[in-house]
Amino acid sequence: MDFELSPEELETRNWAKAFAERVIAPHAEAHTKQKLNPALLKEISAEGFMTLLVPESLGGLGLTPVSFALVMQELARVCGSVAVSVAVTNMIADVLVREGTPEQQKKYLSLLTSQKSLTASFCLTENQAGSDASALRTTATKKGNEYEISGEKIYVTNGAWSEFFLVMARTSDAPGSKGVSAFLVDRNAKGLMIGGEEEKMGLEGSSTIRIALDHVKVPESARVQTEGEGFKIAMRALDGGRISVASQALGIARASLAAGVRYAKEREAFGKPIAEFQAIQWKIADGATALAAAEALILRAAYLKGQKKEFTREASMAKVFATESAMKVCDDMIQIHGGYGYIKEYPVERYFRDVRVTTLYEGTSEIQRMVIARDILKTGVR
Ligand code: CAA
Repeated sequence: MDFELSPEELETRNWAKAFAERVIAPHAEAHTKQKLNPALLKEISAEGFMTLLVPESLGGLGLTPVSFALVMQELARVCGSVAVSVAVTNMIADVLVREGTPEQQKKYLSLLTSQKSLTASFCLTENQAGSDASALRTTATKKGNEYEISGEKIYVTNGAWSEFFLVMARTSDAPGSKGVSAFLVDRNAKGLMIGGEEEKMGLEGSSTIRIALDHVKVPESARVQTEGEGFKIAMRALDGGRISVASQALGIARASLAAGVRYAKEREAFGKPIAEFQAIQWKIADGATALAAAEALILRAAYLKGQKKEFTREASMAKVFATESAMKVCDDMIQIHGGYGYIKEYPVERYFRDVRVTTLYEGTSEIQRMVIARDILKTGVR
């Protein structure tokens, strides 16, 4: 067993860190008030960040899932809004690599690698189908060589910038997950309506919209895999996505911890730096310990994914632990700052707001625990 990152993994992490600090960091504060600038997204994409897991033969960087997790951590350390936008795009690119036909790969991956589409979007959730994703009601009705898709999707990350959407829709009356299929829908398809931006607690720079589909026609060739495979395609995508969200949470919490340590060394009370008080030291120690454990869970899940082994349980473990630990760390670092922690002049309030959603999106903590427990009850303790 080797706890060292390989030279390639270290090099990839350094590359992402340097890029994030040089190109993204100057905009991070502004992203609390405005959406990511398309010019910045273009620069991020041109550097290869939107197709990190795509093999080089298909125009991507061909990173391993471990390297991908390291990159996500570095982006999130600097800007959560950028991290989630990059993460969701990579999740769709990964679906195309794993599940797409050569034609689908050629068309949609090249939209990303050429920056004709700055991002990509995942459309699963509906008003009445969140955690219970297989309750979705959007329909795709076969008419000759086409499907007509009608319904509404919410919480569409990246909606502002995506030229295509992966849409899960019902192709048969089969109950629950069985009748769901996945489709690639172009932004300019007739009948696709792009809704306004949600106003959120954090990650204000990222785009979160709703879309409506009114008899949107797509060719049969836009369906990913066979009819009825859509729910599993979404679940496999989310398995990888959950490693990514865990990494986002870890990156944000590391930034918060570093800010807390910096402040504790500078701020004096009762005649000495507050870092000398045990009450402060324990928050720092507990935070650093939890984040180290989160990192180990993330790397384990990513390693298994890279080895093409089962990693659903491990991805959920990494997500629930990393995101809940990160929330605690971000909260504790505000506590270390005292009243200043509540004021926007210090970055810890942004970290706290940005990290909050990580226990919600791509499956709540409650859903992760359900996935973990179901797997243990089915396949045993390991
Ligand atoms: N990989 C492959 N197949 C899987 C799977 C996985 N990880 N998980 C389930 N399946 C398969 C099952 O094996 C089953 O197959 P069979 O019918 O052949 O037996 C089928 O899918 C149905 O599975 P379940 O019976 O477990 O389905 P369920 O209805 O009980 O739901 C759930 C399971 C885990 C609760 C699922 O609904 C879930 O993950 N919910 C949360 C949804 C979620 O994460 N939403 C986030 C949306 S995206 C977002 O937040 C924003 C964004 O932009 C990214």
